[in-house]
Amino acid sequence: MSELIPQILRFDSLPSTNLEAAQRAIAGAAEGLCVVASEQTAGRGRWQREWISPRGAGLYFSVVLRPRIIQSGWPLITLAAALAVHDALLEAYSLKTDIKWPNDILSNNRKLCGILAETVETTKGRALVLGIGINLTSSAFPPEVQLIATSVELETGKVPDLETILRHLMIAIERRYEMVQSTRGGEETLREWLARSSYGSGKRIRVTNGPEVLEGTTRGLETDGALRVETDEGEIRIVRAGDVTELRPLDFVTES
Ligand code: BTN
Repeated sequence: MSELIPQILRFDSLPSTNLEAAQRAIAGAAEGLCVVASEQTAGRGRWQREWISPRGAGLYFSVVLRPRIIQSGWPLITLAAALAVHDALLEAYSLKTDIKWPNDILSNNRKLCGILAETVETTKGRALVLGIGINLTSSAFPPEVQLIATSVELETGKVPDLETILRHLMIAIERRYEMVQSTRGGEETLREWLARSSYGSGKRIRVTNGPEVLEGTTRGLETDGALRVETDEGEIRIVRAGDVTELRPLDFVTES
């Protein structure tokens, strides 16, 4: 079994580390190629959103993966990536975070890290580029999102060191990536994700996917990582894509 051998390329400024990693993957870069930039001028988020990436305020990181498991199992790799960020923040700063399905990292219900997984067709077959953006300081996000975003500095009260987080992150990614691809590793990843996420079971949520909106209570994960949601009518719906928000008691109050 081949192991993930990381190789880091560092840049002062890039449009997007995911774009750079994807271009290198297309040209045949080996699995384990990591791209880190001090700033991104066109950082990409999920759902074609922008990921604001000011210089020195965040960790902007992408890694090229060439998974051995069948593609229907690749969503589990994004769950494993969220576990890796969770592990790294715990190990580096004793910061215990929550995971919002599928792979947002939260602290005190605010987003601390986002993960963007993109597939690319390359000369060596289909590859996965995993992009991770961690807010290190509050300058990573604009003031208008301060009620929903946070940073390692705000959560720990310490000035975070990018190199420390990066070192822990790379070790955690290697470990979680090997685990998810091992025999029964998918089940273990799902089990650990559920143990570390408050969103896996019993959480009232709204899922938005374009014009589609679904509300209900989470009821665990399918074997491929999809989220099971029970509607108020008692029907189980399987969610494979969408933006999840927690419904708090006040959200249930309707105007009369
Ligand atoms: C999200 O919307 O939650 C995902 C955000 C992912 C941002 C990271 S920063 C490093 C990498 N490069 C990008 O352009 N995006 C990802």
